[in-house]
Amino acid sequence: MSDAELLELHGDEWSQVIERLPQGGFAWRHLGARLEPGVLPAARDLLGATTFSLNEPLALPVFPVAGSGWFGPSAAELLREDTRRIDLELRSFSATVTDDRVELVCSDEREQVSFVTRFSKLATGLAVETEVTNEGDDPVILSSLASAFLPLPPSATHLVSWRGRHAAEFEECVEAMPAHGWQRETREGMTGHGGPPACQVLCSGCGWYSGLALSAQLAWSGDTRIAIERHDEGAWLLTAEAIHVPGEIRLAPGERHRAPQLMVAISRSGRNGIAAQQHAMVRSVVEWPNGTMRPRPVHLNSWEACYFAHDQARMKELASAAADIGVERFVLDDGWFDGREGDCAGLGDWTPDQRKYPAGLAPLAEHVQALGMEFGLWVEPEMINPDSDLFRAHPDWVLGANGRSKPTARNQLVLDMRRPDVRDHLYEKLDGLLSATPISYLKWDHNRAHAPAGGSAQTRGTYDLLARIRAAHPHVEIESCAAGGGRIDAGIARFVHRFWTSDNIDALARIPMQRAFTAFMPPELMGAHVGASPSHATGRSQALDLRAAIASQGHFGIELDPSQLDPAERREIAAWIDFYKNWRRLAHGGETVLGEGPNGILWQAQGDGSEYILWISRAQMSHERRDAPLPLPFAAGRDWRVKLLEQAGRSHVLAARNAKAIDAMKHAARTFSGSWLAAAGLPLPALTAESAAIFHLEAV
Ligand code: GLA
Repeated sequence: MSDAELLELHGDEWSQVIERLPQGGFAWRHLGARLEPGVLPAARDLLGATTFSLNEPLALPVFPVAGSGWFGPSAAELLREDTRRIDLELRSFSATVTDDRVELVCSDEREQVSFVTRFSKLATGLAVETEVTNEGDDPVILSSLASAFLPLPPSATHLVSWRGRHAAEFEECVEAMPAHGWQRETREGMTGHGGPPACQVLCSGCGWYSGLALSAQLAWSGDTRIAIERHDEGAWLLTAEAIHVPGEIRLAPGERHRAPQLMVAISRSGRNGIAAQQHAMVRSVVEWPNGTMRPRPVHLNSWEACYFAHDQARMKELASAAADIGVERFVLDDGWFDGREGDCAGLGDWTPDQRKYPAGLAPLAEHVQALGMEFGLWVEPEMINPDSDLFRAHPDWVLGANGRSKPTARNQLVLDMRRPDVRDHLYEKLDGLLSATPISYLKWDHNRAHAPAGGSAQTRGTYDLLARIRAAHPHVEIESCAAGGGRIDAGIARFVHRFWTSDNIDALARIPMQRAFTAFMPPELMGAHVGASPSHATGRSQALDLRAAIASQGHFGIELDPSQLDPAERREIAAWIDFYKNWRRLAHGGETVLGEGPNGILWQAQGDGSEYILWISRAQMSHERRDAPLPLPFAAGRDWRVKLLEQAGRSHVLAARNAKAIDAMKHAARTFSGSWLAAAGLPLPALTAESAAIFHLEAV
């Protein structure tokens, strides 16, 4: 029993407790590890007097607004049309609580606006969203509306975020919790190459598999701000929001605006614990054709195999070579439409180039299907080249058509997705292509940042077009690509089924990138391809088996021309395709557990709790003579049969160095107790620079 009126929501691993204050309003009491019910004093009894402060101290509000004694960040800022700031004073409150949801309504009856904050269980995590309604007779301009305002655990010590650029996505940044404030903003009109708008907060002693951690990702593909502010009361406060262009959100009487959802994970099982909740939440919003994920088919993407230099005959050959090695989906990338000889022209003219594809794309698509593969097509609907028929016909359809300067990037401009006529046109073109040709997959690209900006309405316009295409062609899967990994987020995840992680498919560059991807996104959504050697992005060369081993962690594909390989390499790549087909059931849809060993060893296990595939990799050489066994904490509690499936890298160097007992594990699984694997560790095969080993673990 408690003497305070508490509104509680409990996940398997976390609890959220809000107090309804007797004088009105809602105050945060707990957001953190799961609690058992207990006696809790009322918030007012915990607030001692402090010098030079309000005589009536204020408990931490759930929906704070400026004024009325709150000196921290405001959850909402509203204006009248004459630019007068609405001086909010929330005085009317109501709450609805169910097992799965706490919904709070705070209203200002004088100004006639109300705010809803909704906390819902989403899979194993917590989804937070806010909404504002104009209940008055005059318009309201929304300057800002935080999707959530959350207290962070006072024991937080570190903050993890990611930054990046084209072909160098997801650089992990670890910082101490700020003394004053911290902010991660994106202002490119798209998600950006630092990955989802998100961060992880790690508490004292938190590591990969233990310790209290919290993470939050905003389900939005436009401009975003995630801010953390230190509060005088010894905690940090997190706000997350979509950034709006001033004045763009105007609520007429009776209108409502909903901010994008913030997906929050809280776990005492460290960074892997919060990643698992984020995966569960993202999985819950992905809409698969027919409701369930099929085994993720092996791709061949034509881009790095031939760039813009192709025609029907060339692509038929490439498709045949792909089918020969076991590819299941052939994706025709850029260069197939009118005027597209290079990246200077053609975007906007979504009609097959008559010279390259005289009878359209159907003959190629049918050839691909006859080979037993699906046919996918690259498009970049939101973009336009000034050198295109579409631009010549509709120069006013681009962002910046109001006479402001329109800098090109990759020689292209951005279409104004706020305009219904632009969206209708794009819908007709895409619908026409999908209806005329057996296309079951779109790679939906977006290759530049927005300048000038289109604001959040631009993002909503894109979502609207995606939703229409999905509704009209529900069997078509979509890949979100934006100059590689520039649009990977949980907002667009509602419409797509794969993310292109990066144009950099150098295996060594991919190791940290792919690990970072899984902080918020499940591995089955991660496009991971075997590219040519040397890598087109870095110029580095890596062994074919290393490239394949690293790609097999995600949704596997090939991004080279198999006919350029020698027969032995073709056999090798076909064997890796078989490997992937054999193990994707385990690698996808389950848990992902990351860890680190000494001397540069990185490992990750993907599986269902009783069976795992374990990848162990090393990029740089070690200075140790031999590696010590590698502790695997996730294995504790049961016995395991362990088999060495693959060793990848410079195989002639590796083979000579394995211990006999390790080589024996290639042929017959060996049983280890869980406590042995967790505490003493898994004996390792030889791991030289640029090598990997893949094990299979099955609970006995
Ligand atoms: C972007 C994508 C690539 C490819 C090209 C085509 O860079 O990330 O995979 O599709 O565009 O122009």
